[in-house]
Amino acid sequence: MSDWQRILLAPTPSAWVELATTRWRELLIDHAACEKKAASTALALMFAYPQDRALGRSLSRLAREELRHFEQVQSLMDEVGVGFERQKPGRYASGLRAALRTAEPGRKLDLLLISALIEARSCERFALLAPLLPPMPGRLYGDLGGAEARHCTLYLDLARSRAAPSVWRERLSALAAREAELITTPERTLRFHSGPPLQPC
Ligand SMILES: [Fe+2]
Ligand SMILES: [Fe+2]
Repeated sequence: MSDWQRILLAPTPSAWVELATTRWRELLIDHAACEKKAASTALALMFAYPQDRALGRSLSRLAREELRHFEQVQSLMDEVGVGFERQKPGRYASGLRAALRTAEPGRKLDLLLISALIEARSCERFALLAPLLPPMPGRLYGDLGGAEARHCTLYLDLARSRAAPSVWRERLSALAAREAELITTPERTLRFHSGPPLQPC
């Protein structure tokens, strides 16, 4: 079993998959934003912990890879005629951030574990959607799933090597429970990391 499968405590509800399969074009807008956000989160960690050289080295590579993902999604949007529009962010990222501890070293551990969980969820959703979508974006989603699985392991390894096993395991359980709650509680807006639809759309 891969890291991303091991750390997720609940599967994506099938109602989300059904909706995302029919509205995949509009979902590209949020997906592009998620790739940009993944790069900026990695950069923010590098700025917050400049003394952590190993973290800086691996997250610099990760940020570049996320920006390439952004470029790939943007090209696909051009191909299928989806324009950019400003969207309100969903509740997922803010819901996870609300669980962040403010004092160090807990904050750093939480940031790494939350990033691992986000990568794991992205990976799960790419794997679910890839076979259900047209060849493009299906192929792109298949490729991105592999990259996000690597990112999940990278963030987990950073967390695991910076805290005692009992500490990171306990924190991962608490944050993964919060993540599972966010992903299974109905939500009005469709986003890449949203819950199932609140009512039939
Ligand atoms: Fe990505
Ligand atoms: Fe990623």
